[in-house]
Amino acid sequence: MSPRPLTLITGSTGLLGKGMEETAPAGARLLGLHQRDYAVKDSRMKHLVLDIRDKRAVDRLFAKHKFDAVVHAAGIASVDYVEKHYAESLESNIVGTLNITAACRKAGIHLVYVSTNAVFDGKKPPYREDGAVNPVNKYGRLKADCEKIVADTLEHWTVARPILMYGWNHIATRPNPATWIYDKLMRGERVQLVNDVVENPLFNLQCGRALWAIIRRKPAGVFHLGGKNASSRLEFGRRIAKAFGLDASLIDEVGSDHFPGIAPRPPNTTFVVKRMEDELGVAAMTLDEGLRAMKESLVLRP
Ligand SMILES: NC(=O)c1ccc[n+]([C@@H]2O[C@H](COP(=O)([O-])OP(=O)(O)OC[C@H]3O[C@@H](n4cnc5c(N)ncnc54)[C@H](OP(=O)(O)O)[C@@H]3O)[C@@H](O)[C@H]2O)c1
Repeated sequence: MSPRPLTLITGSTGLLGKGMEETAPAGARLLGLHQRDYAVKDSRMKHLVLDIRDKRAVDRLFAKHKFDAVVHAAGIASVDYVEKHYAESLESNIVGTLNITAACRKAGIHLVYVSTNAVFDGKKPPYREDGAVNPVNKYGRLKADCEKIVADTLEHWTVARPILMYGWNHIATRPNPATWIYDKLMRGERVQLVNDVVENPLFNLQCGRALWAIIRRKPAGVFHLGGKNASSRLEFGRRIAKAFGLDASLIDEVGSDHFPGIAPRPPNTTFVVKRMEDELGVAAMTLDEGLRAMKESLVLRP
């Protein structure tokens, strides 16, 4: 390993990429990939525009750099977008993962594949890492297929499954559920939040810390990354309103049947995060702790 290890992060402009950047160990060199042609400002990571569907471009990148670790998080991560644009999503998520996996195999690099809680049907929470995978939507099916590609073709791999993430992103225009709720309440607009989809939300910097611990220790197998509290989206919104001093009476309680046009969601995918705590040394944060930390870093928002 070189004195200043080089880590490749695909999907660097996402919330997870931002979490990894903010928590990177001193001296780490970071190269990030994203797809659309724009420049990322004020980042300690070097960002490259490269479409992971392009095998030749991926191979050229791996020929040029000797990576000490690769975190593969790129792909289409919107559940509803995947449901409606399946062919495009297959290419980004499956072909892209095949290309990154093949390059890691050839170079003998440990790959950390970033999966999701959406691989579960949400009927038997809480979920440990060995829980039965049974996705209820196309996004979950693609991610479960990618997990298999990684596990079946690589010798050195870890699958990290984050659950609903919150935090500030690089790009203010790429909302996540927390910033979407925050922005709506800030503008005094009403928000409808479901009471029947439950997760244990994860602060993106805590996700970054867990991924850096995985890179350091290179453990085999699957890790669940989540927070301490199970919370419905409704409760999540109310906690955000409280944490930021916003008007919670603007939040309307609804059930999932209120949004008939969207992809099905697993009802309760709450994770057991014991492996994260015991083997990675990363303590699960309560939602209030995470939101407090998010509030304290508000000044950094682009
Ligand atoms: N956010 C969550 O709550 C959550 C929960 C569970 C699991 N996850 C998983 O965590 C990972 C990261 O999530 P995120 O929320 O950070 O994602 P995100 O905000 O949706 O960002 C997706 C990233 O992938 C890049 N990308 C998409 N297609 C690409 C392609 N063909 N080639 C190169 N880059 C491409 C995007 O680049 P552009 O900026 O150019 O579009 C962006 O950097 C995903 O794998 C997701 O499935 C996320």
